[in-house]
Amino acid sequence: MDQKEIIEGLKAVCICKGIRKKSFMAHVEKGIKTVQGLKKATGAGSGPCEGRRCTPRIEEMLKPK
Ligand code: FES
Repeated sequence: MDQKEIIEGLKAVCICKGIRKKSFMAHVEKGIKTVQGLKKATGAGSGPCEGRRCTPRIEEMLKPK
């Protein structure tokens, strides 16, 4: 893993709950590849904004590169 990937992993995806990209990616690697699945696994989307900010970021992460 290079420095860029490490920095990327530290970015907060769900700001309300303080959940970083690397937490989501760990679940993606285990086979969870849906927005709902990732929300359930990480707790994202349950903060005060109710997922308005993080849902688009989660969708973006799941898009094929
Ligand atoms: S940013 Fe995820 S619930 Fe608000």
